Amino acid sequence: MRADGTGVLEVEVGDPSCVTVIQITDSHLRQDADGAVLGVPTREALRRVLAGIRRDYPHTDLIVHSGDIADDGHPDSYRHLAALVRDLDVPVVCVPGNHDDRKAMSQGLVSTTVHRSCSARVGSWLVVALDTLVSNAEYGRLSGSELQRLDVDLLSHTDHPTLVFLHHPPVEIGSKWMDAMGLRDAQRLFDLVAARAQVRVLAWGHNHQAFEDRRGGVCLLAAPATCFQFTPGSRHMEVDALAPGYRVFTLYQDGTFDTKVVRVPEAWFPPQLGTE
Ligand SMILES: [Fe+2]
Repeated sequence: MRADGTGVLEVEVGDPSCVTVIQITDSHLRQDADGAVLGVPTREALRRVLAGIRRDYPHTDLIVHSGDIADDGHPDSYRHLAALVRDLDVPVVCVPGNHDDRKAMSQGLVSTTVHRSCSARVGSWLVVALDTLVSNAEYGRLSGSELQRLDVDLLSHTDHPTLVFLHHPPVEIGSKWMDAMGLRDAQRLFDLVAARAQVRVLAWGHNHQAFEDRRGGVCLLAAPATCFQFTPGSRHMEVDALAPGYRVFTLYQDGTFDTKVVRVPEAWFPPQLGTE
């Protein structure tokens, strides 16, 4: 991957007429490689999800991790991610989630193939990965500089249909406890997206569940976590029995796309509440 004249990374793709971008999210890795969250060994769960991607989508062009890479914000947790994706030979772009720590991410991902909060051209498409982390808060917010970066990258790539990734949901998903910690001031993002017609998708993590809706011409999508899942529609934290998974985007040159959620049953470990 190299940068073009605008600072946007350029991904080398196999077939520009049809590219594959995969979203993984909420891996919640621990400093202790064998550490568990809610009883789930999160590094092993991610390893199995990545093995499923390698088996079922061997021609993936780009992987986007939409945040909560680490559960503990420790540099070693990010090193675990870099080590797991090293053998895939697929470029990775990531953004921080509320459990992440920007400084530790920088330390853990330095000199690795994992890129942070950037934009990338993939075939005829543009991928923009936005940082919504507010330190010591569960909710998220886009800073003025991140919104400006989005606007600049969209304006310099107006002919490129665009996927935007972020950690925090810009809409409510009908789950009271989750909706209390979404993206604040989301209207600023929607106003900008409405003014730049090329954005086709807003995709996020944080919810630990699949979600799909539309707003105007924009698809609104959440992906399952690579560790444990939360129950849709729950008023309080409730762990679902569904398997971990990821979301696949198949992007065509004419600006159309397909997307689906893929579950990885072999990556499922029984979650246990109260065992953090
Ligand atoms: Fe999470």
